[in-house]
Amino acid sequence: MKLLVTGGAGFIGSAFVRTTLATQPEAEILTLDKLTYAGNLDNLAPVEGSARHRFVRADICDAAAIDEAFASFHPDAIVHFAAESHVDRSIHSPAPVFETNLRGTFTLLEAARRHGLAHFQHVSTDEVYGSIEAPHDADEQYPLHTSSPYSASKAGSDLLALSYYTTYKLPVTVTRASNNYGPYQFPEKLIPLMIANALEDKALPVYGDGQQIRDWLYVDDHCAAIRAVIAKGRAGEVYNIGGSRSLANLDVVHRILKATAKPKSLIRYVTDRPGHDRRYALSSAKIERETGWAPAVEFEAGLAATVAWYQANSEWVGRVRSGAYQSYYEQNYAHR
Ligand code: NAD
Ligand code: DAU
Repeated sequence: MKLLVTGGAGFIGSAFVRTTLATQPEAEILTLDKLTYAGNLDNLAPVEGSARHRFVRADICDAAAIDEAFASFHPDAIVHFAAESHVDRSIHSPAPVFETNLRGTFTLLEAARRHGLAHFQHVSTDEVYGSIEAPHDADEQYPLHTSSPYSASKAGSDLLALSYYTTYKLPVTVTRASNNYGPYQFPEKLIPLMIANALEDKALPVYGDGQQIRDWLYVDDHCAAIRAVIAKGRAGEVYNIGGSRSLANLDVVHRILKATAKPKSLIRYVTDRPGHDRRYALSSAKIERETGWAPAVEFEAGLAATVAWYQANSEWVGRVRSGAYQSYYEQNYAHR
């Protein structure tokens, strides 16, 4: 199986590359990534030197570069992770979000159609369903209702990908996952930001009342689910991937303070995110029924492993927090 992995230098994409090479001896991977602020070759250091892995730096909006990747590698499938993935950044600067998430996905779909690709696996998010009223969980038929430029761009790219199945019979699957956490996550997202700040005795900025609910999924479980969909998923179908672990943000922050032995006085309640979705909750019954996948990592074990990784990798954190990170932090938090 030859896989073209877009966004494979990011958080989830790099976990997919590492775990797929480790568990699938027949897999060959070409990672294609633009290396934005979120892409980092350090994330791929564990597979450096593997004869089954190559890296190319390219923008998914660059049709010529994508054609070249297809012509030289002849992939059986694309696993499409590349995206501008952060809600807060999408609120500050929507343009790159629509460029990459919509035009980039379109460029890849066109190349896949021209080259007769066997499988296009589009990686999406539970954010496309918007806030879900308790006690319901969103299944794949739940209406799309987007709140941020990020979620709107992801919903648009999902529909675009599915249209290539309906119209051109391109074998597309779409997966919609809940909030991921684990090692190598950029410290702009809740869990790595709170761990990194706590370890440095910095304030932990909690948006609003901190009672927003997210469903947490360990990143390796997400990667296993994507492999299950590539192996057993049906073309033209959407599969939800949830972690089956709903927690309020404040509860997550308290657990991080406990795990890092830091005081609750580090918590700062700050102005809420505009358009903030209150509750995400997914039903993963379809993927479990059709592929046999289920999340394997309990939140307590996953969080302990994640905290331990950030404690042991302060150099990685220091490197990704240098330079442009400082101006982003100022832009997002100074006026809250
Ligand atoms: P990330 O921000 O850590 O990584 C994104 C990667 O895409 C980076 O390596 C970046 O360099 C690359 N990239 C961005 N623009 C590009 C472009 N134009 N051309 C080529 N490469 C480009 O993101 P992540 O958290 O790993 O998310 C990966 C995917 O999973 C995204 O599609 C996201 O929407 C989806 N997702 C994320 C989560 C989550 O909790 N993080 C949950 C569900 C779905
Ligand atoms: O649900 C899946 C989505 O999860 C993915 O599609 C996105 O790519 C990913 O970024 C994530 O989006 P969220 O907005 O849910 O993640 P984030 O980590 O930014 O925020 C999680 C919750 O924590 C959310 O309710 C906002 C809150 N939060 C976040 C930050 C960064 C805070 O209270 N303070 C913060 O400083």
